[in-house]
Amino acid sequence: MSSQLLYFDRNENQYGPAPACFDVLRGVGIEQMSVYSRDFSRGVKSILSERLAGDFGVAERDILLGYGAEDILKQTVHCYLGAGDRIMIPSHSWWYYKTIAEEVNGVSVEYPIVEGGESYSYDIPAMLRIYDEHKPAVVLISSPNNPTGNALAHDDLLRVLRHMREGIIVLDQAYWSYASQDNNLVGDLRAEFPNLLIVRTFSKYYALAGVRIGYAVMGSNLTALEHFSARYLGYSRLSELIALAALDSIEYYTNITAKMEEDRDMFRRTLGALPGFTVFESVANFVLVKMPEELCAPLKQDLTARGLIVKFMNEDELHTHMRITLGTQEQNRILADAIRAFVQERVPA
Ligand SMILES: Cc1ncc(COP(=O)(O)O)c(C=O)c1O
Repeated sequence: MSSQLLYFDRNENQYGPAPACFDVLRGVGIEQMSVYSRDFSRGVKSILSERLAGDFGVAERDILLGYGAEDILKQTVHCYLGAGDRIMIPSHSWWYYKTIAEEVNGVSVEYPIVEGGESYSYDIPAMLRIYDEHKPAVVLISSPNNPTGNALAHDDLLRVLRHMREGIIVLDQAYWSYASQDNNLVGDLRAEFPNLLIVRTFSKYYALAGVRIGYAVMGSNLTALEHFSARYLGYSRLSELIALAALDSIEYYTNITAKMEEDRDMFRRTLGALPGFTVFESVANFVLVKMPEELCAPLKQDLTARGLIVKFMNEDELHTHMRITLGTQEQNRILADAIRAFVQERVPA
C-alpha cells in the first residue's frame, strides 16, 4: 500500500477552499468563538442568510441554513414524511435518501434514471406516471444527480414541477454550481412553486465539506419546515464567515471549475478508449465509469494497493461501475494512468 492515500471516492473538492477562507480563520477572535450570534434579535437568522437572500433576490426568511445539505434533507423528510407515507426517489441516487425515509418509516418509491449511450437521463413520462399512481407526500429530485452526473434540463424541471403541485418537492442541487452560476432561476422557481425546497451546499463547489454548512430556498407553503428548523441561538459563526469569504472568491472557484471540465474530458478520452469502458457525461465534480465485470474486483484491488481510493459501486444495476471524484489535475493524471496501465496489461490490444 502506498503511504499517501489519494481520495477519489466521496465527491470532495481536493483543491481546497479559497485563500480568503483561511484568512478568516487567521482573524477569528472571542466574538466568533465565545458568544452567540445576535443576528436573531435583528430579525434574521444570520449574516449568511441575509447575503444569500440578496444573491437570489428572495426574502431572508425564505433561506434556511443547516449543518450541510445532509441536515436540511433530514429535517425536511422528518418534518413532512409520516409513517407509511410515500417518498419518490431516483432509482440511482445517494443512498442517504432511502435511509432518512426509513428513519420515519416512510415508503420509498423509485422512479427511473435511465442509461442511454454515454449519458443518463430522467425518464420524465415515467416520473409523472409514478407520481400520479402513488401520490407521494414528498418527491426528491437530485440535479445534478449523484452518481450518474446528469442534470434535469430547465424545461423538464418546469414540466415535472407543474405536474407535481400537490406534493412537497425537494430539489437537491448539491452539485449545481458546477453546472451553472445563474442565480436568477432560483427566485423564479420560488415564485411559481410554493411547495418547492431548493437545497444547496458549500461542501462541493466551495470545497468546504468539513465546515458543514448548507442552505435551502423555501417555497411560501413550507412554514412547517421553517418552524421545525428554527435555531434561536444561531449557527456556527466561523462557518458563516468562511462561507461568505468563499462566495466572494469567484475567480478562484471559476478556475477550478475550468480545470475540472478539462479533466472530465481527459477521463473520457483516456478511459473511454479502453475496451469495454464507458465514461458517462457529467456536469458535476465526478464521473461514472462502466467497465467489464471481470475487471472490477482486480482493478479495485490494484488501485487500493497504490493508495488510489475510488468508489466502486455495489448497487444492482451499477455493480460494474466506479464513480471517480475529480481530484486536482495532477491527481487525476496519476489515476487515469494507473487505470490505463492496469487494463493494457490485462487486455492486450
Ligand atoms: C446529492 C448529494 N446531496 C447532498 C450531499 C451532502 O452534502 P453536505 O456535505 O452539504 O451535507 C451529498 C454528499 O455527497 C450528495 O451527494
